[in-house]
Amino acid sequence: MRTQLFIGGEWRDGSDGVTFDVIDPATEAIVASVAAGTPSDATAACESASAAQPGWAATAPRERAEILRRAWQLLMERQDELARLIVLENGKPLADAKGEVAYAAEFFRWNSEEAVRIHGSIGTAPSGSNRIIVHHPPVGVVVIVTPWNFPAAMITRKLAPALAAGNAVVIKPPTETPLTALRIADLLSEAGVPDGVVNVVPTTDAEAWFDAAVDHPGIRMVSFTGSTGVGRNLLKRSADRVLKTVMELGGNAPFVVFADADLDAAVEGAMTAKMRHSAETCTAANRFFVEASVVEEFASRFAAAMGAVTLGVGTDDGVTCGPLIHAGALDRVTSLVDDAVAAGARVQVGGKRSDRAGYFYEPTVLSNVAHDDPITREEIFGPVAPIIAFTDVDDMIDQANDTEMGLIGYVFTSDLAKGLRVSERIQAGMIGLNRGAVSDPAAPFGGMKQSGLGREGASDGIYEFCETQYIATDW
Ligand code: SIN
Repeated sequence: MRTQLFIGGEWRDGSDGVTFDVIDPATEAIVASVAAGTPSDATAACESASAAQPGWAATAPRERAEILRRAWQLLMERQDELARLIVLENGKPLADAKGEVAYAAEFFRWNSEEAVRIHGSIGTAPSGSNRIIVHHPPVGVVVIVTPWNFPAAMITRKLAPALAAGNAVVIKPPTETPLTALRIADLLSEAGVPDGVVNVVPTTDAEAWFDAAVDHPGIRMVSFTGSTGVGRNLLKRSADRVLKTVMELGGNAPFVVFADADLDAAVEGAMTAKMRHSAETCTAANRFFVEASVVEEFASRFAAAMGAVTLGVGTDDGVTCGPLIHAGALDRVTSLVDDAVAAGARVQVGGKRSDRAGYFYEPTVLSNVAHDDPITREEIFGPVAPIIAFTDVDDMIDQANDTEMGLIGYVFTSDLAKGLRVSERIQAGMIGLNRGAVSDPAAPFGGMKQSGLGREGASDGIYEFCETQYIATDW
């Protein structure tokens, strides 16, 4: 297990020798002590990345592609080991963790294929006086700040395209789950990424760390996944140096079930959209709008499926949902549900924290929720599903869009034309139409409104890590 900072290809302690504990949220046991990086460690990492980046950018795209493909292979060879590390520090079930490793690895494979296809263009100026040549050099050095809910995939979704385009990176992994990030850095070295191109500096003082990184003259871009509140602060701070930013922020996903939907498929989709990765995803369905004529039936089938979820330690047989990440998350979910119930919501199943040790909350379905109840205004980030009945489609769409968030929405109907019409009216960057999961390295992930800026994955993802240069040419 790697527990030191990774700077310039070397493992080292933090400059003031301080460490912090990583806690298993399923048992509350300390599983590792990790070096806490200081602002001067962040600066050292920016120095290393700035020194290494020009050499990496000069490497042939094919060579970068082959290194990334080796990284994909190495992650898949170590899938079980990495998944167990994810379970240890994040708590999600082993099957989800294995799925996450495959998802994380796929960003390397996908971007190994994109590395050799960064295309520019050439055209003639309308006046005929010259040619317009456009090409896409790398941005330079990128600061990557990631969340704890996908300790591997949220890093590789940024890291793989950044490297493919010829950038060097300085990563601040989350305090809750730094171990997976450090192990990935190790595997990237094994895959052949040169020293200094990837640096990982965990810290307990995110603000001071970020200030030091942003102020380093080598840094040209910030890529962040996390809450909208933190993203807003990082955007403000990045503005001081007019840094390029990509922001994958919070969600408040509507999940719409029409009366003509296949209800078995809708319940299965609801379970995926709500419960994948222990219900701690920004894509999680947050508000279930169900047509009134089927709301009772949907609620009772959904409650039965939620009631059949097995909570427990992620590596134990049969466990399908892990704990929340920490005591603060558990307290927050508890008070959101308690307030909703006090306001008139009916508990179909769950409704309380679990009796077991660790930060577990019982999978919960709430019916009789009004569209503007406080629980529908917050990103729940826990296994709680509020159901809102609707009769009028236009009203329902207004309510679904009555949020500053616009990451994702879900629509279930057997009428494809209606599904597409409603999908187009939902203000969200991604829609699952008769599907409870949309995440795919080959598709553009990202949000509208305050859910973010820019896209990750697909071909768009690599261009986020590139500049555009135009050369007016005469010959
Ligand atoms: C997230 O929760 O931030 C990402 C979810 C995903 O990629 O599926």
